[in-house]
Amino acid sequence: MKILAIESSCDETACAVVEDGTRVLSNVVATQIDAHRLYGGVVPEIASRMHSESIYAVAQKALEDANCTLNDTDAVAVTYAPGLIGALLVGISFAKGLAMAAGKPLIPVHHIAGHIAANYISHSDLKPPYLCLVISGGNTNIVHVEDYTKFTVLGRTRDDAAGEALDKAARMIGFEYPGGKYIDEAAKKGDSTAFSFPHPKVAGREFDFSFSGLKTAVVNLVHNAQQRGEELSQCDIAASYQKTVCDILVQKTMLAADRYGFKKLSVVGGVSANSGVRSAMEKACGERGIKLYLPELKYCGDNAAMIGCQAYYDHLAGRRADESLNGIATLPLDSIYGE
Ligand code: KG4
Repeated sequence: MKILAIESSCDETACAVVEDGTRVLSNVVATQIDAHRLYGGVVPEIASRMHSESIYAVAQKALEDANCTLNDTDAVAVTYAPGLIGALLVGISFAKGLAMAAGKPLIPVHHIAGHIAANYISHSDLKPPYLCLVISGGNTNIVHVEDYTKFTVLGRTRDDAAGEALDKAARMIGFEYPGGKYIDEAAKKGDSTAFSFPHPKVAGREFDFSFSGLKTAVVNLVHNAQQRGEELSQCDIAASYQKTVCDILVQKTMLAADRYGFKKLSVVGGVSANSGVRSAMEKACGERGIKLYLPELKYCGDNAAMIGCQAYYDHLAGRRADESLNGIATLPLDSIYGE
């Protein structure tokens, strides 16, 4: 079954053709990062307009790369939640038009479920049940993946997402948006013991995260140094900050793995590209005999191949959208895939 998948929830316009949930026939991503960098973050109005400008060409290229036409596909899938409403609506409206014109079913896909599915593309041996850590720019979740379309969220962030925490710290120490990857590069040259940052706890919710205190700590560190006329090493701050974020992610994830006895861990989302996260997870999993699954770098950040992959399983579960499909800005994963 060939699915044309569309993703426009944030600042990447992406289309892909995916066969039977794992064979990626094409994967086209048009990033808007250069446009948003000027403002230090994603500007929703600009994001929607840029999706509108590029979605036709991106879809056309995805079909061309897959060597097929819309008529050769069996369904159209689209991310409908969570995300920026204006941005989501561009993809949804475009997908509805295609599905209607070609007489194909329309499959609504949850963005986080898409990130989770990204690891099925590279790892044919990864099958539920397993534990998954989703770490992206907008979300941080520890998920029990019971089946391809059945998820229980064990932990979530109470405030900032892991990627947001990295991007905000990066901005404070002088890196461009989105700064996660610059922190990653700088951390390799810095001393991770140079500064100590807090490990915030969430009362009564041992698997939940809180990153906002960490961000405040870096703001205070930089401001205090500025007031004293001191210059701090960007690389040392990056290394110390990244180490703290990694420690928190590893500690909570391993707590959940140990508690429930998981022997398979999947780590997905934009921040799963981080070299510190990858090596810290490898070490912790190695010590416990847990098999770790990491996506190829091209499937860590937002893309439509992962949406096409999840859409296949959603299709098998009978999920369909009708012509009234709408975008939803906030939609917990287990509110739709919990049953
Ligand atoms: O998954 P994604 O593309 O978008 C969302 O679904 O939110 O994730 C984007 C996030 C950004 O915060 C970006 O800074 C972060 O992923 N990111 C990284 C790295 N590459 C991307 N963070 C740390 N290290 C990296 N190498």
